[in-house]
Amino acid sequence: MIFLCMLSDIPASGAKRIARGPRPAVAVFLVDGTIHATADKCTHGTALLSRGKVEGNRLICPLHQGSFDIRTGEAIDLPCDEKLEVYAVELRGEEIWAAVIDCPGMAGPARPARPAPQCARSKRGRSTNTTSA
Ligand code: FES
Repeated sequence: MIFLCMLSDIPASGAKRIARGPRPAVAVFLVDGTIHATADKCTHGTALLSRGKVEGNRLICPLHQGSFDIRTGEAIDLPCDEKLEVYAVELRGEEIWAAVIDCPGMAGPARPARPAPQCARSKRGRSTNTTSA
């Protein structure tokens, strides 16, 4: 688990973008009292999903309006057809922590001292990494 931000850092509407060093950026949302953390980059292109909008459980990309289920990352509307990475989150007091996968070659404050785990992806974009951060 890595620390993302404080609960108060998430704007009332929109998302908080967390980008630290070479680690993939994370978008943190607060939807109806539930915190969601997803990869910030759309799987269709280069749009930042932290600049998208949320309608119900649909996270809508700001560039081509494809969408994902913010809870599971499943693509809902085209042109998005590849699952979005979503991260389990944990609220520790006011701090938001998430199980963001630590990929080889990436550095960050939460990276373990041991050798970095393999971070393999299937053709469908699902992570097969089962190690914890
Ligand atoms: S970049 Fe997100 S739908 Fe195209």
